[in-house]
Amino acid sequence: MYNETVMDHFENPRNAGEIPDANAVGQVGNPNCGDVMKMYLKIEDGKIADIKYKTFGCAAAIATSSAASEMLIGKTIEEAEKLTRMDIVEYLNGLPEQKIACSTIAPDAVKAALQDFRSKK
Ligand code: FES
Repeated sequence: MYNETVMDHFENPRNAGEIPDANAVGQVGNPNCGDVMKMYLKIEDGKIADIKYKTFGCAAAIATSSAASEMLIGKTIEEAEKLTRMDIVEYLNGLPEQKIACSTIAPDAVKAALQDFRSKK
């Protein structure tokens, strides 16, 4: 069902965990299945210096979280905001049609974290 890239990210998720002194935290849930992602960012000089997450979800949710974390490290806030679920799906060389919706929580969690960052300023 899943391609090799997706399986690799699912079995060896990159950057999973928590940043205790994160300055941007966002949590989102998928209302259709109840899966949840919490994203932690450390933003320094307008760039994402560190990124970690906890995803309680399906294989696609975990793989897309992992891929998003790799894609975003070192990026500016503006670049991070532009990340779409289809960018992530492309990065993973595709997802099964019925799992495309699962790729939404990663970019949504990034947006929630960036909103949190701005609200603290
Ligand atoms: Fe919930 Fe995939 S089934 S995010």
